[in-house]
Amino acid sequence: MSPTSTFSSSFIFFFHILLFSLFEAEAMEMDLNPRTANQTLFEGEGGGYYAWSSKEFPFLAQAKLGAGKLVLKPNGFALPHYVDSSKVGYVLQGSDGVVGMVFPNKKSSKEVALKLKKGDIIPVPLGALSWWYNNGDSELVIVFLGQTTKAYVPGEFTYFILTGGLGILGAFSTEYTSKAFNMNKNEAKELVKSQSGVIIIKLEAGKTMPQPQLHKTKELVFNIDSSLADGNVKRGGIITTVNKSKFSFIGEVGLTATHMKLQPHSMNSPIYSTDSSIRVIYVVKGSARVQIVGIQGKRVLDTEIKAGHLVVVPAFFVEAKIAGGEGMECFSIISSAEPILEDIVSDESVLAALSPEVLQASLNISAVSGKHLISEISKNSIILPSTN
Ligand SMILES: *[C@@H]1O[C@H](CO)[C@@H](O)[C@H](O)[C@H]1NC(C)=O
Ligand SMILES: *[C@@H]1O[C@H](CO)[C@@H](O)[C@H](O)[C@H]1NC(C)=O
Ligand SMILES: *[C@@H]1O[C@H](CO)[C@@H](O)[C@H](O)[C@H]1NC(C)=O
Repeated sequence: MSPTSTFSSSFIFFFHILLFSLFEAEAMEMDLNPRTANQTLFEGEGGGYYAWSSKEFPFLAQAKLGAGKLVLKPNGFALPHYVDSSKVGYVLQGSDGVVGMVFPNKKSSKEVALKLKKGDIIPVPLGALSWWYNNGDSELVIVFLGQTTKAYVPGEFTYFILTGGLGILGAFSTEYTSKAFNMNKNEAKELVKSQSGVIIIKLEAGKTMPQPQLHKTKELVFNIDSSLADGNVKRGGIITTVNKSKFSFIGEVGLTATHMKLQPHSMNSPIYSTDSSIRVIYVVKGSARVQIVGIQGKRVLDTEIKAGHLVVVPAFFVEAKIAGGEGMECFSIISSAEPILEDIVSDESVLAALSPEVLQASLNISAVSGKHLISEISKNSIILPSTN
């Protein structure tokens, strides 16, 4: 084989790889359309649990993220359970919730009881046993966003309930439970069959449940709504990021949370992850138009989002939102305890970091236009108000 033919065949080979990977990227189906939670897993007198099913939202499975929403009516009680996913709950509504947790791998640790109110974030580590109770007189609503990397069903949380009609205890034979509890068979049967309720029950008024421990609540619950924002732009909005430096417990579940409020018609600077972390956004209030740009400079999403919608932003893809007439509020998690995000048009953006020469050459603009662009960008923050 002559050197020329080696060169040309390896060139052709390389070219094939390039075409192939472009084709692969094209073929990879990514339906990023926002969805509401429309799978009812349970609904009863005490409340309900609703999920984003990975059948309806297949990209959740690809991204290995999950989401669900718990609604507890007054005196509603979600029976003790553990989950095959690590997640963060965000309290959308309610002022007098109580969550009890028993942490895995802490042999001597007793249940902790924590108080929950609107705006709180509560991390739930993989495998932690928890129960949830609404001690208030209005509904308690919590949205859970989390990672399903170790889950049975990618894209979904699977719950293991300890007691009640669908509980683990009642599923063992009486021979086992009587031996385990050192009781006769009738006593054992009564013990595990007495609670016929499933998943979420309603306790009789007047039942006393554990009082929340305030010092533990301070350590393990973080009110993101009332915390100091990292970015606060006049006529633009606010953004608050809660990472493990600010709230160490969220680091233990390997996630980071953000809360953003955009005022009417303001925009968040186009943003992307540089470390392969994925973001999942839940719209709390209002509406916005969201655009996501991905592989080969293709705009893969351009749609309206409103309260109740869930949006997933794939790794390295760039996302921007412009709030609608009544503004928009959203809560999101990022699938890393130390995510590295970059934006494109703020004073700290990658564009602002480029040298003037490269900016001019890349955009094919004159030195004068380049200077103007840089001076505009230097005034920008991560949120761009409606009238700049
Ligand atoms: C969920 O929404 C999809 C369309 O987005 C619909 O086809 C499906 O029937 C809905 N499922 C339920 C349980 O409501
Ligand atoms: C947490 O966020 C702060 C402020 O945004 C940042 O300075 C810090 O480096 C972050 N910590 C980690 C572990 O990423
Ligand atoms: C750069 O801009 C000039 C003037 O607008 C134009 O004539 C030229 O075709 C552009 N070059 C490229 C590569 O787009």
